[in-house]
Amino acid sequence: SQYTVAVIVGSLRKDSFNRKLAKAIERMAPEGFEFKEIAIDNLPLYNQDADGNEVEVVKNFRAQIAGTQALLFVTPEYNRSIPGVLKNAIDQGSRPYGKSVWAGKPGAVLGVSVGAVGTALAQQHLRNVMAYLDVPLMGQPEMFIQAKEGLFAADGSIGEGSKAFVQAWLTRYVDWVKRHA
Ligand code: FNR
Repeated sequence: SQYTVAVIVGSLRKDSFNRKLAKAIERMAPEGFEFKEIAIDNLPLYNQDADGNEVEVVKNFRAQIAGTQALLFVTPEYNRSIPGVLKNAIDQGSRPYGKSVWAGKPGAVLGVSVGAVGTALAQQHLRNVMAYLDVPLMGQPEMFIQAKEGLFAADGSIGEGSKAFVQAWLTRYVDWVKRHA
């Protein structure tokens, strides 16, 4: 593929709605695009003492991100922010100072929540973090999804009610990546 997108899911839960959403979008990848989830559940907690002497899983995580052209964060909202596991992964990728693997990669954020705010506050917090890390996150269209019956079809694809909306978002995302990668 011309563009490999690093998909980072902010939930470690086995039946995560956000991972289901990520998987459904992966299957909608257009020509020239590959969406690849990069695991964050094996990362140790970030410790600045390890800068430059990272354990193998951290090196591997950083190399995987570095090898992609774009980013996609699919995350739940935890207590009105991003989950700690996601922030930990972002921190791991950001150091040593001057060696961030995030800088300049175009990205987007989306998320599913059981609550009506649909991860809006978590997404705003992530925008704050990624702006500092020099990641251009697509501004529009925003995607705040509430987990409801029928969100996913039986085969794991996006249900009829949201399919057109997600497809329209994906078209804009692909264009965003092509313009900024
Ligand atoms: C939540 N949840 C939640 N939902 C929300 O809309 N706003 C919030 O601030 C929070 N806070 C929160 C904190 C913690 C610690 C948990 C475990 C959960 C509910 C959340 O939307 C729900 O658990 C989702 O199912 C999480 O996403 P995954 O794991 O299904 O992808």
